[in-house]
Amino acid sequence: MSLKLNVVILAAGKGTRMYSEKPKVLHELAGLSLVEHVIAAAKNLNPENITLVVGHQAEDLESHLAEGGYNFVLQKEQKGTAHALEQALPFLDDNAYAIILYGDVPLTKKASLEELIALTNESTMAVLTSVVKEPQGLGRIIRDDENNIEFIIEEKDANERQKLIKEINTGIMAFPVKKLKDWLPLIKNNNSQNEFYLTDIVSLALEDKCQVKTSFCTYEYEAYGVNNMVQLAELEKIYQQERASEYMLKGVKISDPSRFDLRGEAEISADVKIDINVILEGKVKIEKNVKIGANCILKNCTIKQGSEIFPNTIIEDSFIGEYCNIGPFARIRPGTELKDHAKIGNFVETKKTIIGQGSKVNHLSYVGDSELGEGVNIGAGTITCNYDGVNKFKTTIGNNVFIGSNTALVAPVIVGNGATVGAGSTITKDVKADQLALTRNKQNNIDGWKRPSKK
Ligand code: UD1
Ligand code: MG
Repeated sequence: MSLKLNVVILAAGKGTRMYSEKPKVLHELAGLSLVEHVIAAAKNLNPENITLVVGHQAEDLESHLAEGGYNFVLQKEQKGTAHALEQALPFLDDNAYAIILYGDVPLTKKASLEELIALTNESTMAVLTSVVKEPQGLGRIIRDDENNIEFIIEEKDANERQKLIKEINTGIMAFPVKKLKDWLPLIKNNNSQNEFYLTDIVSLALEDKCQVKTSFCTYEYEAYGVNNMVQLAELEKIYQQERASEYMLKGVKISDPSRFDLRGEAEISADVKIDINVILEGKVKIEKNVKIGANCILKNCTIKQGSEIFPNTIIEDSFIGEYCNIGPFARIRPGTELKDHAKIGNFVETKKTIIGQGSKVNHLSYVGDSELGEGVNIGAGTITCNYDGVNKFKTTIGNNVFIGSNTALVAPVIVGNGATVGAGSTITKDVKADQLALTRNKQNNIDGWKRPSKK
């Protein structure tokens, strides 16, 4: 292909059937808005520019996508797909091809789009079609005796015979921009909806002695648009099933692919086991022989080989070394780093903390703004008191420290290598290496003690 590529994404429609205050194309599929899926597909084609035609709740859309460097054009009134595309013409380069995508059709594949563009040249436009089981509501592809496309008829304008046709217009088309600029102004709105149909461009191209080619998309769902919450959920399911299959085919064991959710990007090695209801968000990396238990949420984290995450654990913005154990019911908050062979047990919360190699926080603890050396044992119910209501302070614990159960470490505080803290202590002063720190009163047992009686 010699010409450059411009992309236009139509996204001015209202999305009435979503019954939502949010613009339809900002509803999320797999953690990313519909329109961002379309933009990602567009970017895969390395276009010269991307223009979004916006209308309903245009400001919401523009602010959501402000960072991307896209062109926005406002279609004040929604007078049809041809009218929408016309608004984008000022951004289209005469020496380019334009490909038209819909903001609410999120799962079109790069290969299908590339094939369509490959069919296009200075005097040829191309339409992406699909053969679907249920063509209701969609434009039908009408072909002549030689199987060439003649025109597209919208369902509302089709006769009974045309309605039986299962080959539909996906809406995705590619044009040489120069020709597009000739044809678009000729489109009329003399149809049942009084809209300017982009589909009419097929007949205009043929009248102009240009060729109109078609290509099929590989999967039916590539053409599916989202009009309501049911369709959104269906597409989500398709997307998740496909991701799960990709991982499984590379050797990841997923207990039930219908209960696996990826909302971002994950690099998962072979021989990883993922139990049911696991959600992976953002950027996740999971190395070989890691086991993820049921109901875990892993967001922006790396889990090195051989580690096991027990059920109902949440890990966010953290790094987990090799052969660590975490959970069940642990919450690993941002800024946590576990060195190899560390253990975090049930009902433990960590935040902005380094847990040294082989160190253990096994039960019911909060460890925040802390750094623990190697071989540390933190007893049940230990709390780092890192916050005075205004500022945060650090707790530093050396190697081979033993902190007795139910200890409060009032930060800032340092506990030196090899030190021991007795159970139930409230540590407010540093403990030096190898010292024993005790802060509780000595136990006093009184014989024959009578509890008070009710008067
Ligand atoms: C359109 C096609 C139909 C195709 C179907 C595929 C036409 C006339 N019909 O029908 O052949 O089978 O898509 O899904 O093109 N939009 C605007 N401004 C407008 C109208 C629409 O931006 O004035 C945008 C919508 O936001 C949406 C897209 O264009 O992203 C398609 O519009 P929609 O109303 O859904 O078209 P359909 O009637 O489904
Ligand atoms: Mg539609």
